[in-house]
Amino acid sequence: MDRNLALEFVRVTEAAAIAAAEWMGRGDGKKADGAAVDEMRDRFNQMDFKATVVIGEGEKDKAPKLYTGEVVGKGNGEEMDLAIDPLEATDSVAWGRTNAQAMIAAGPKGSLMHAPDTYMNKIAVGKEAAKVIDLDAPVKDNIKKIAKALGKEPGEVTAIVLDRERHQDLIKEIRAAGARVRLITDGDVAAAIATTIPDSGIDVLMGIGGSTEAVLAAVPLKIFGGEILARFHPRSDQDKIEIQKCLEKSKIKDIKKIFNAEDMANGDKLTFTATGVIDGPMLDGVNFRPGKIITHSIVVRGTSGTVRYITTEHKAHKPK
Ligand code: FBP
Repeated sequence: MDRNLALEFVRVTEAAAIAAAEWMGRGDGKKADGAAVDEMRDRFNQMDFKATVVIGEGEKDKAPKLYTGEVVGKGNGEEMDLAIDPLEATDSVAWGRTNAQAMIAAGPKGSLMHAPDTYMNKIAVGKEAAKVIDLDAPVKDNIKKIAKALGKEPGEVTAIVLDRERHQDLIKEIRAAGARVRLITDGDVAAAIATTIPDSGIDVLMGIGGSTEAVLAAVPLKIFGGEILARFHPRSDQDKIEIQKCLEKSKIKDIKKIFNAEDMANGDKLTFTATGVIDGPMLDGVNFRPGKIITHSIVVRGTSGTVRYITTEHKAHKPK
């Protein structure tokens, strides 16, 4: 992939993050998401590439912009796949909570898994523990093995979990294994990536979250040498039909298959770019100051393995 393209993406996530941050705490998630989508789409269409959104805002009939299947870019240059979330953790922005980002994962055509918008059961860790996790193993066994791989005691392991009713038992099991639990209201992509960032204090993500978010997280986890294991967790018969439709395209018959990072993000020519909207375990959020706006981003390239943390000062503009 053109190395400059990865840096172009950061302009896109910065613009989307600023647009969304202007809606923080105003109680309107749709407006926050819409602002981020508009910025992201406009900027993609100014770029020299031709990319298909494989993970986007939803199906064409439900999402008018950046829908799954939409082709963006000026139409010249490289043909690529995009998995995007112009605003990951919309509710966090609507209600002024923590942990929201604008994000783009990209790779050559055919490199990113197509996933319907349903749930997956996930476990994600950084490099040291990448080979010891097992989605089907009891929680205490995973915690024990992760602790050993990290040179810690189980009591020193921190698991990050979405604060949901469905995770009551999981949380009890993590506590029973001796580990600490960090609960988040939203944003399990950043939570998964945080396991690869030593200073984040997060060792493992566990629990059920969005399936499109699993693909987004798979790209940076793979580049960092970490691992994510995920299995579809359909909510309804309709979900099962959608999942099967998607899997058939990849000639996969078993809906219970466990996908790893490589299955979801194929090859090395991958990039991941995100800009913080509100502070979270991966990135700080947008900071509006007199006359300027500060953004914090991460850009990860698979080919070189480079990780860039970019702090940008933008000249302040009048909020839209
Ligand atoms: P959105 O970007 O759609 O707002 O998703 C936020 C999020 O918290 C994800 O990070 C997570 O995977 C998913 O929602 C969990 O879904 P639910 O809120 O239905 O439990």
